[in-house]
Amino acid sequence: MNCIDNFILLDVVIKKYKSAKTNLDRLNNSGARLLFGVDARTMKIHSHLHPRKFDRIVYNFPHAGFFGKESDDGVIMIHRNLVCSFFKNASQMLRPNGEVHVSHKTKFPFDCWNIVELASQSCLTLLECVEFKREDYPGYNNKRGDGVRSDEPFPLGECRTYKFISSSTALYHGNHQELQEIPLQGANTSLFTDPARAIDSTECFRIFVEYFDHARSTCGKNDCYLSSSVRDHLRFGFQRYMAEDHRRQSIDFVKLLEELRSLSKQRIEFLQKRLWELDLRGGL
Ligand SMILES: C[S@@+](CC[C@H](N)C(=O)[O-])C[C@H]1O[C@@H](n2cnc3c(N)ncnc32)[C@H](O)[C@@H]1O
Repeated sequence: MNCIDNFILLDVVIKKYKSAKTNLDRLNNSGARLLFGVDARTMKIHSHLHPRKFDRIVYNFPHAGFFGKESDDGVIMIHRNLVCSFFKNASQMLRPNGEVHVSHKTKFPFDCWNIVELASQSCLTLLECVEFKREDYPGYNNKRGDGVRSDEPFPLGECRTYKFISSSTALYHGNHQELQEIPLQGANTSLFTDPARAIDSTECFRIFVEYFDHARSTCGKNDCYLSSSVRDHLRFGFQRYMAEDHRRQSIDFVKLLEELRSLSKQRIEFLQKRLWELDLRGGL
């Protein structure tokens, strides 16, 4: 999207919501970057968002629009598709320890959307689910956002905020103890039992932090979606490396890739050894 499109959409928003101008001016003055017309289903490739990473990605009350009775299976499917695509994008736009928050109604038929299951399809794990309180968001008024009554609120009823973290972060914190219990002779296991502590001082880890995070979250999975996101994470590492110092040559980046390859080989050997030991202990 170019600046002119963003400008035209700003005008649409101002016409649609009576308090928009005041609110947007306030955001602008506090240094926020305002983007309009961002599609939640494809936002990771948005020209102003890629390849940025975020601490918090929030979507309050996702809703794909009005297509009939909310309890119809087809309508539920449309909403689920929107949320599923949002999670697929958001999960790849998080910083390490970042969170995705979705506020959602919990009564029928909205409970049929199965938010937690949709998140798990994008390697997101529920961190906590808290009661949604409007008072926690000063100045926030929920809006329909679609149709002729866009600027009107919708009845909230019972609703909660679901907070998700990347499954790799959850796994890393949750399974840390269990991994350490298994003695592995000879191997440099610290790299994998505590990857952050073991290699965070190296240039390679710093440049490829998203790649390592991704490798942990997708371990054992097989999906064509994975290979493209591996490529995304490597490309992101390359862009960060080159942007940090304009004197850098892409050929120097190859050295980092070689280091990454050697770490990946060690990781495979570690996993093979661990599988073999679990097998011996009858753990599989
Ligand atoms: C129920 S409204 C909630 C609006 C607002 N988040 C709030 O809390 O009041 C659902 C919103 O989702 C938006 N929406 C629907 N499909 C979308 C998509 N593909 N990308 C981004 N937003 C979308 C609609 O335009 C609408 O504003």
